[in-house]
Amino acid sequence: MTLADPFPSVRVRAPGKINVFLEVGRLQPDGYHDLATAFQAVSLYEDVVATHDDDFTIAQVTGSVPVLGVPRDERNLALRAARLLAEETGYHGGVRIDLYKEVPVSGGMGGGSADAAATLLACDALWGTGLSSGDLQKLAARLGADVPFALLGGTAVGTGRGDRLNPALARGRVDWVLVTNPVGVSTPEAYGMLDRHREEHGAQIGQGAESPAVDTDVLHALRQGDPQMLAACLRNDLQAATLRLRPDLTETMELGESSGALAGIVSGSGPTIAFLASGAEAAAELQQTLDAAGHDTLLVHGPVPGARIVG
Ligand code: C5P
Repeated sequence: MTLADPFPSVRVRAPGKINVFLEVGRLQPDGYHDLATAFQAVSLYEDVVATHDDDFTIAQVTGSVPVLGVPRDERNLALRAARLLAEETGYHGGVRIDLYKEVPVSGGMGGGSADAAATLLACDALWGTGLSSGDLQKLAARLGADVPFALLGGTAVGTGRGDRLNPALARGRVDWVLVTNPVGVSTPEAYGMLDRHREEHGAQIGQGAESPAVDTDVLHALRQGDPQMLAACLRNDLQAATLRLRPDLTETMELGESSGALAGIVSGSGPTIAFLASGAEAAAELQQTLDAAGHDTLLVHGPVPGARIVG
């Protein structure tokens, strides 16, 4: 760093997400599944502070959720994001990254992806590399299927691996109660379980659509801002696989759905369960019931903006 550097550090905030619709198609030769999803960014945020340094390091990891499981080495997606941006732009320095996490770790809500998205934006501003949002989106897609959405935020349809995005029209605010779980689910394991299930029961359930697509009912419900309508068409093809890996979650799902939720859905590959409420008041009541039953809960709403510089 020199005295001439305009920003000694940059803070960027990026949201977690819920997939309100996720149709998983077939396994592709690259190991990914073709899919169609409707993402909604929700009001849980990851803060990344990027500070000039000679090396690439993850310094502090703190948060409102347990952060013990967060790696600080090359497995960390934020570190990989910073290195990728430096390589692609020919930047010769490094960066110190501090993370503050609100999104449950390994919870199926894209927390690691939000860290990577925030890091791309923070380092681009810190280093003055000046990439366009299109270029940042391309780098984001190389880091993981959910990273481009954490940059974009709001409500969007994702196809391909989930990284080809189109913003979707959405009106109003959707209230959710999340039940978190301290034991994470591995995303590749959930997809693997779905594949095995399809191999075993292909005759009944098929092998997954050739061309997955988001139901028009979902897009209509989001456009109308109607939670009842949305509740009727929530779908996650990974849910059955996750519940097979984690049968303990079934009871949680049943409790929420019989305690006033309009519907419940496993978020991504889980283990977080998202309950859709008819409004803020209903969400607060549902949260009380679930808390009283001994669950760890969070109240969130969506949609919220994607990664942005703050402070
Ligand atoms: O891209 P990301 O690192 O988030 O993906 C984690 C894993 O989830 C992949 O390695 C793959 O096993 C699975 N996945 C998939 N199809 C997708 C997205 C993810 O099979 N479209």
